[in-house]
Amino acid sequence: MTNLKDQIVEIAVDQWQVDTPQDDWITAIEAGKILYFPHLPFPLDAAKAANLFTPAVLDPKSRNISLGTDGKLKGAAGDAATQEALTAMVGDFRERAVKLVHGLFPKYAPGLRLAPTSYRPMQVATRVQSWRADDRRMHVDAFPSRPNRGERILRVFINVNPDAESRVWRVGEPFEDIARRFLPRAKPYSAWQAGLLNTLGVTKSLRSEYDHLMLQLHDGMKSDADYQQNGPQLVQPFPSGAVWVCYSDQTPHAVMSGQYMMEQTFHLPTSYLYRPESCPLAILTALAQRALI
Ligand code: SIN
Ligand code: FE
Repeated sequence: MTNLKDQIVEIAVDQWQVDTPQDDWITAIEAGKILYFPHLPFPLDAAKAANLFTPAVLDPKSRNISLGTDGKLKGAAGDAATQEALTAMVGDFRERAVKLVHGLFPKYAPGLRLAPTSYRPMQVATRVQSWRADDRRMHVDAFPSRPNRGERILRVFINVNPDAESRVWRVGEPFEDIARRFLPRAKPYSAWQAGLLNTLGVTKSLRSEYDHLMLQLHDGMKSDADYQQNGPQLVQPFPSGAVWVCYSDQTPHAVMSGQYMMEQTFHLPTSYLYRPESCPLAILTALAQRALI
């Protein structure tokens, strides 16, 4: 039996520029664990002065505020000064997240592809959503419209809550256990249906069998009330100021409460991994005993 406490690896560094990466950390994150940094500094004075800690900065039509790789801010409400302050805060976090990931995992550098950086100012506990979109249910990340054919989803999170409210996650069992539990219930892949979804523009490219199975795991977990309540899980609060990093396509997670978080996603082809044999594509391929992409 895995001790779920081992899924969280606390790292005491107090600078975003890590000069001495450790093999243990690399092995841990590529095994689906969370690297948790309680002591990385992030200045909030300018953001507080500009009143960025209110849901009113979010355009009611958007789910998140995001800063594109082109430097354009999306999803924000408020005047020009507010938008400028948001751009500065989110951009500052992006720079630090990039520095952190480059220092921790030097071999990834040439393969990393930056996604937009997001700021999430809504309270999680009271948000109303469909079961499939509800991230309070334990899941691994998989995106219905954006097939990734096994490419990794590496995410850096920071809790910037100004009132010392933690962001409370639940963290689940290792990916292979999830795969063994939910694969037998997965609907079979239909190449014909994948082709149709692509033609209709529902997906941005052809959904591979890997992408199909990842969505089946995501939906299988979220729709199983008994698993949500009684499945292996650990409650993990991330205090205000905390930074944490994980492969969210591999680490089962759920967010129970919290407000004011930023998140940076990186995509990474599996060929850049230190231990490609431990990634979801390798695990699912071994279990299915056939090529999935
Ligand atoms: C998620 O990826 O499920 C969201 C995590 C969070 O909002 O803290
Ligand atoms: Fe998620």
